[in-house]
Amino acid sequence: MSVILTTDERQLEQIRLAHVQAVIYEPSELPKWFEELANAVECGAFRFQRTILNDVGYNQIEAWLEASLPKNAVAAEVCDALQRDILSLVELVCRSTGASRFIFRAVTASPNHHCGFHVDTVPPGAVPWGLLRVYNGAGTDYIEPSNVKTTQDFYRYLSRRERLVRDWCNAKKNEDMIACDSLMARIAALDKERAFLKRPGDVFTVPSGCIVAFKHLDIRLHWSNHTNELAWLHCSPMQGAPRFLVNISPCTLAAKRRSDFQSADMRARGGLDRSI
Ligand SMILES: [Fe+2]
Repeated sequence: MSVILTTDERQLEQIRLAHVQAVIYEPSELPKWFEELANAVECGAFRFQRTILNDVGYNQIEAWLEASLPKNAVAAEVCDALQRDILSLVELVCRSTGASRFIFRAVTASPNHHCGFHVDTVPPGAVPWGLLRVYNGAGTDYIEPSNVKTTQDFYRYLSRRERLVRDWCNAKKNEDMIACDSLMARIAALDKERAFLKRPGDVFTVPSGCIVAFKHLDIRLHWSNHTNELAWLHCSPMQGAPRFLVNISPCTLAAKRRSDFQSADMRARGGLDRSI
């Protein structure tokens, strides 16, 4: 078993196990405010600049949420609930990884073809797992590691795709629409073929609203001949309404993890130290 599906949030901790690539927690019922948030994201009222906060603590994430979420797009109580929800994800990553510094990504965007199947990475030596929550819209696709032919096959697909997307971006910049169409057709063919899979039809989808704890790859191993089980292969949807998602991963060194975890555990029992 390498991907765990659960309705018990406590099972997210199973991501610590070496053979587990992802734990997908699906709440039995989503809070009512999800619906109002989804409507605001999908009509374009709730949107902000794509954000990556690198090497930040809890307080900096809290300050960013306070300053940057488009508060006028939803009712005040919806925005408050969302902020609390996101900060609870930060606390979860803190408890699970022992990290006190994080990479925080928040995006509101329409799906596009820029990104196919890929793995997320963490800085060298960081604890290799983090959390994803997609709040609305189409879900995230993923595949079981046993379905991947070889890591080399996967990276062959990824490098070809990245080259085609780069060429497509250049063609678009040059307003060469014939080249754009041709490159987009090649990208679509590559995605349809899924030549790196033993069973190209065996692709699963995480419904929006779920919280996913998933293995990231130490960036030093990216493009190397590592085992398929090291990181979760996933792919964002390529069409549909705008989505809002948050992704939090640690950037504390794994070597510090034990002592950090002990203090994080104490904080979890006595309330989180807001100074992190
Ligand atoms: Fe990703």
